[in-house]
Amino acid sequence: MAVELKRDIYGRPESDSVEKVNLTEAFASFDEHWSPRLAGELNGQAVKLAKAGGEFVWHRHEDADELFLVFSGALRIELRDSADVTLQEGEFVIVPRGVEHRPVAEDEAEILLFEPPETRNTGNVETEQTRTGRETVD
Ligand code: NI
Repeated sequence: MAVELKRDIYGRPESDSVEKVNLTEAFASFDEHWSPRLAGELNGQAVKLAKAGGEFVWHRHEDADELFLVFSGALRIELRDSADVTLQEGEFVIVPRGVEHRPVAEDEAEILLFEPPETRNTGNVETEQTRTGRETVD
């Protein structure tokens, strides 16, 4: 008798298996800048991986706090109403909902994002860089 697979919010079969993610390998699997890949989900939140390069767009997320963790390189989070925050490898920051921000990477940086799955990378603005973040890492 066929077992009906549970589906996650993207329609993919849900798995009960416990599988590690190697971040070095996951980041090596794509090149595009500012295009978050879904790497995991837990408790309604998403772990996304992205490569940053150059300036992103100013934006805010009305309904979501956004965590940025730098895996390699450095990332400057510019903030409209307070001093910039520069993250080095192994550092993270949480940008609260509603706070306007612009990520900038002078050189390429590999970053991990933790936020609701549906959070749009460009928040309240739509540009050619807008992604929904629903592409996954293999
Ligand atoms: Ni953002």
